[in-house]
Amino acid sequence: MSDDLRRRPVGVFDSGLGGLTVLRALHERLPGEDLVYFGDTARVPYGTKGEKTVRAFARQDAGVLVELGVKLVVVACNTASAFALDHLQEVLPVPVLGVIGPGVGEAVRVSRGGPVGVIGTSGTIRSGRYQEGLRRLLPDTPIVARECPLFVPLVEEGLMGHALTAMAADGYLAPLRAAGVDTLILGCTHYPLLKDDIARVMGPEVALVDSAEALAAAADELLGARGLRRRDGTGPSVPEREGDLCFLLSDIPWKFAEIGARFLGRPIADVRTVGLDEMEEAGRRLAERA
Ligand code: DGL
Repeated sequence: MSDDLRRRPVGVFDSGLGGLTVLRALHERLPGEDLVYFGDTARVPYGTKGEKTVRAFARQDAGVLVELGVKLVVVACNTASAFALDHLQEVLPVPVLGVIGPGVGEAVRVSRGGPVGVIGTSGTIRSGRYQEGLRRLLPDTPIVARECPLFVPLVEEGLMGHALTAMAADGYLAPLRAAGVDTLILGCTHYPLLKDDIARVMGPEVALVDSAEALAAAADELLGARGLRRRDGTGPSVPEREGDLCFLLSDIPWKFAEIGARFLGRPIADVRTVGLDEMEEAGRRLAERA
């Protein structure tokens, strides 16, 4: 594998800023890799939109990253992974990873034989993708899936630990608790920030599966298997340099700095905006190449 290819950044896209939880996990796992983040903040949320729309948006998002020369595309958004991963695998000239496979894999690893729960946006849950993946690997295990649409705006408003979030969590999670799930997949970019609120309802014995961490591990493995790691694994494990993080957004939301820092765990610097026309062009060029 050429050095030029190995030195390219890893591209990560999401419907908005929530995917910064995935970027954070990737940066922790692969500190030497340059990472480019694209958030479609102009058109978020994806979780309430239909399959056709999400596929078209995801192709455009991935197209923007491909034109920047990334070596791998990571689909941080659960809704886009649910509706568009198979399509992206067909049209992208570089490998692509979504959150659902790694999230399912981790759930199967930690499950203790009881029912498995999954929560996500309406789109993710209605797509049935998590449920299919779980059923394939755990055919005899009951699966309880639940849409939790209010969790996204609650996190964006910074209402972790707030009474409003507690009410939503009680309402959404009651059926999962009643079913006695021992493992719960947090199938949305925003939910890792609600771990404490969710654990309060589910109890300490329920394993909460954070897809972001599972995805970062899968990205690490894929880069290694394809010889795409910036360091090829033969050198010291401590990287010579910390990878650059660069941010592209299709809009700068009012509370962008506050929300972004909440998801990333540090302030966001160096943001560039990408216009919707540029995104549409990138999506079209990708479709033509396929
Ligand atoms: N990023 C989305 C997901 O993980 C949540 C926000 C949205 O609905 O766009 O499904």
